[in-house]
Amino acid sequence: MAKRIDVSGLSAYYGAHKAIDDISMTVEPRSVTAFIGPSGCGKSTFLRTLNRMHEVTPGGRVEGKVMLDDENLYGAGVDPVAVRRTVGMVFQRPNPFPTMSIFDNVAAGLRLNGSYKKSQLNDIVERSLKGANLWNEVKDRLNKPGSGLSGGQQQRLCIARAIAVEPDVLLMDEPCSALDPISTLAIEDLIGELKERFTIVIVTHNMQQAARVSDRTAFFNLAGVGQPGKLIELDDTERIFSNPSVQATEDYISGRFG
Ligand SMILES: Nc1ncnc2c1ncn2[C@@H]1O[C@H](COP(=O)(O)OP(=O)(O)OP(=O)(O)O)[C@@H](O)[C@H]1O
Ligand SMILES: [Mg+2]
Repeated sequence: MAKRIDVSGLSAYYGAHKAIDDISMTVEPRSVTAFIGPSGCGKSTFLRTLNRMHEVTPGGRVEGKVMLDDENLYGAGVDPVAVRRTVGMVFQRPNPFPTMSIFDNVAAGLRLNGSYKKSQLNDIVERSLKGANLWNEVKDRLNKPGSGLSGGQQQRLCIARAIAVEPDVLLMDEPCSALDPISTLAIEDLIGELKERFTIVIVTHNMQQAARVSDRTAFFNLAGVGQPGKLIELDDTERIFSNPSVQATEDYISGRFG
């Protein structure tokens, strides 16, 4: 649980196009790291290299190393499916399985991974929904479809589904961008609780959100259209938003950008 990520020399390609160039960084366990930067600078691409989702895209290819504690996720013989179980992901648009009940949505990953007794499943589903701050709102309708929930509830359902399999790391790609302000605050509070158990990386375009939820912030940028994205600066969030070392970071966070 809650492992340290150590990335070195990571580049990612779509066919011949290099989307991110030579990124190195560490992410501490039980912390929240925010990725910020302009559209197209490779935040989502980089995030997906952290659980081997990038290579699912046709032409998707990675160079470099991602260590999760002492295992290289790109090492010989590593099973990408196992990696995706260890490093869970929550997407921009809540994507519950539409025909499945709330219960089955949360249990889906568990059922894929092994055989559980009904009572074990009940316990894990309840624990995960409580962990995602959704239990009280859905406990009387667990057999109703997940698609019948509000957007904010659906996103918490997806978080419950992600944490049900007990990942070490939780990746979130703009998890609040489709949500109203109240649901957004609910997810932000939840992130604050989840970081006690997981290592969390979140992509956000919302500077206030990055400042509110993250311990460390990474600013990515690209030199121009068609150029690969690079990591410009990674530092304590407080420092990034008060006194960054690089002018481009300052320009971006203060809105003097592009
Ligand atoms: N499936 C794909 N096939 C080819 N190129 C892609 C694909 N997905 C992304 N790219 C390219 O890779 C680069 C980085 O894209 P990416 O989606 O990672 O950026 P981003 O920082 O997440 O942007 P945004 O803030 O808009 O979400 C862009 O040039 C983009 O066009
Ligand atoms: Mg993106």
